[in-house]
Amino acid sequence: MESPRAYAGHAHLTMALHSTAARAQSANVRPRRCVATTAASSVTEQVRDAIDSAQRSGNGREAAGFAARAAALESLDVHVFDRLRFFEGLSGLSPELRLLQRRGAGLRRRLEETNERFVRALRRRIREGRAAPAWLRRVLAECSPSSPSRLGYDSVDLLVMRLLGGRAPSAAVAAPHPEMVPYQPTPVRAVLAMIDAASLGAGDVLYDLGSGLGHVVILAALLSAANARGVEVEPSYDAYARQCVRRLNVPRASFVRGDAREADFDDGTLFFMYTPFRGELLRQVLERLRDVATKRPLRLCTYGPCTHEVALARWLRLRGRRRPSDDEVALFDGPVALARGA
Ligand SMILES: C[S@@+](CC[C@H](N)C(=O)[O-])C[C@H]1O[C@@H](n2cnc3c(N)ncnc32)[C@H](O)[C@@H]1O
Repeated sequence: MESPRAYAGHAHLTMALHSTAARAQSANVRPRRCVATTAASSVTEQVRDAIDSAQRSGNGREAAGFAARAAALESLDVHVFDRLRFFEGLSGLSPELRLLQRRGAGLRRRLEETNERFVRALRRRIREGRAAPAWLRRVLAECSPSSPSRLGYDSVDLLVMRLLGGRAPSAAVAAPHPEMVPYQPTPVRAVLAMIDAASLGAGDVLYDLGSGLGHVVILAALLSAANARGVEVEPSYDAYARQCVRRLNVPRASFVRGDAREADFDDGTLFFMYTPFRGELLRQVLERLRDVATKRPLRLCTYGPCTHEVALARWLRLRGRRRPSDDEVALFDGPVALARGA
């Protein structure tokens, strides 16, 4: 999966959230070259080892095992199925490799079923209003990899995508303005960082400007006591996000379909932007936020390259001494003269 810096071309969310980055990060992954130069017997050994190791790491319990199962599934794809596909095209599969292929497929099915059972149970608990923010936060922590990468997506993003999943729109339909950035979800760890940095809580109204499929809004409503609203210009994304909210029954999450240059967000106390637009369009939205800030203080949290443009707005003050990188959330207070604690 691409890093959050790489926006281009992400017109829709696919179920394969996990694949590209995990493959690239995987230490020994060069299946094609590797297989082409490896003797058949050692391919059999490598495939068997990969299946054994996926089996061992996929043995964990429900939540605690989610990240390991996601990694095991990834490893099966890369080290077993990709290899076997290549080898099959090259010289056909030996009976031994055919057996391993069946064993790998059975293991993959079992791992997927376990994860699906876990996700269904979680969804049910949320729908029934039995998932308190602190409890859900612990579940997300349990489902995160033990050493999360600072860039890109990981198993917790996969979990959230499946939790909120339905039929994602296959492509953006509206012809985007050149300064509008195509859809890409905020990594879950950045949503959590935003909730913590802003101490999002009861009495807050969060607006995600350019809310896409609604992940930030739904997570914020589930993981805090705040109301969360999304503003999204693309009708199919807006419809998808509303459907997720209905399916999961999240009363404090809602959506406004429209252009952030025109939508009514005057009741917002915290605004979030994962670089939804740039240039003049971004400046126009910042002007609207400045109008809101003339009535009462607000906070603006940014993620990705837009942070640099937002930092140029003189009515906003960046919290903290250091300018965050594109992979960190930045929190601004405004207007400067009225900023909290100023
Ligand atoms: C990088 S995505 C972020 C999605 C969402 N915030 C998330 O993190 O899951 C940017 C989103 O902004 C939307 N967008 C772009 N220009 C917009 C505008 N003028 N008004 C409202 N939404 C806009 C795009 O359609 C896209 O869904």
